[in-house]
Amino acid sequence: MLPVPMLDLKRQLAGIRDEMIREVCEVIESGQYILGKKVAGFEGLAADYIGVRHAIGVASGTDALCLSLKALGTGPGDEVITTPFTFFSTIEAILFLGAKPVFADIDPETLNIDTSKIEEKITARTRAILPVHLFGCPADMATITEIAGRHGLKIVEDCAQSFGASLGGRKTGGFGDAGAFSFYPSKNLGAYGDGGLITTDSDRMAAEIRLLRNHGSAGGYIHASAGFNSRLDEIQAAVLLVKLKRLDGYNEQRRRKAALYDRFFSGAGAVKCPPSGEEGASLHVYHQYTIRHPRREEVMERLRAEHISSMVYYPVPLHLQPAVKFMGHGQGDFPCAEDACRGVLSLPIYPELEDETIERIAKIVSSV
Ligand SMILES: Cc1ncc(COP(=O)(O)O)c(C=O)c1O
Repeated sequence: MLPVPMLDLKRQLAGIRDEMIREVCEVIESGQYILGKKVAGFEGLAADYIGVRHAIGVASGTDALCLSLKALGTGPGDEVITTPFTFFSTIEAILFLGAKPVFADIDPETLNIDTSKIEEKITARTRAILPVHLFGCPADMATITEIAGRHGLKIVEDCAQSFGASLGGRKTGGFGDAGAFSFYPSKNLGAYGDGGLITTDSDRMAAEIRLLRNHGSAGGYIHASAGFNSRLDEIQAAVLLVKLKRLDGYNEQRRRKAALYDRFFSGAGAVKCPPSGEEGASLHVYHQYTIRHPRREEVMERLRAEHISSMVYYPVPLHLQPAVKFMGHGQGDFPCAEDACRGVLSLPIYPELEDETIERIAKIVSSV
């Protein structure tokens, strides 16, 4: 049996190889590598796809979060409410700006921020709420938008894992003051290197972020402020243009594979499946297919013995990370996030994964 990786980008390339090489070569031969027509073209297409007025390419998802928060005026003394169960960069951006991440525990069903725990965290210093659409499952944006509106707070959506996910037909990244996307290669829409995107309906935010990503300058060596060097490059934009056209198809395949896993796991008592693909009006895009299992280490060991990859995203909640030790959190502060860290296991999922392999994986997992 061949080993099964978490993701196989070589197989994705096989389906788009000729077009990809043509598009990338066109950039190389154009002599224009930074902020040229591929980036502008991709930004236009991405804005239309998400359904917002502006999309601005930046160097990474982390920068997308950072520049979004900065354009909203976030700085020292401000608090940003977010989830303790996500990738570290969600709070890295907050910390980088000198602001304070304030955690609200997660909903054990969706693994996203528990909206019933947000309001008790709001203080006079709260500037924004930063929900994460974790693993491609949209957070409850209706409630978050309502809370933010009532308290005059801003919203930055962390859409790093949710390109194409939607709620009531509206795409993630179109709800908040800004949406921050990552094009890290393994993402549902992935580049062949680093990249990121900010979506917004605000003309002011868009103008500010365009300055911030380019050393605070609109050109001509005149600098309105100290910004960053954080630009999506032309080669990555060309790659993303080729893939964005196919994204709905890729995501549809992910949903189909997830439904297959769900079906094989139904009745397998110990396995808790992720929220389903189209629960209510919420469209999950399964960046990860993440189960929970009381004997996770044993499951991993059995899969490893059959050369099947599996991963724990994430083993340590953010409030217990060494980087935020100064905040004084301890074990037990966010029990649902801690419990998730003990039980989650992500299984291979990608559009090209064969149905028979899913069946094989599901049988092994169910037998533990
Ligand atoms: C939830 C989340 N937020 C932010 C990021 C940061 O994105 P990047 O790696 O492009 O900086 C990632 C991904 O890596 C992520 O998974």
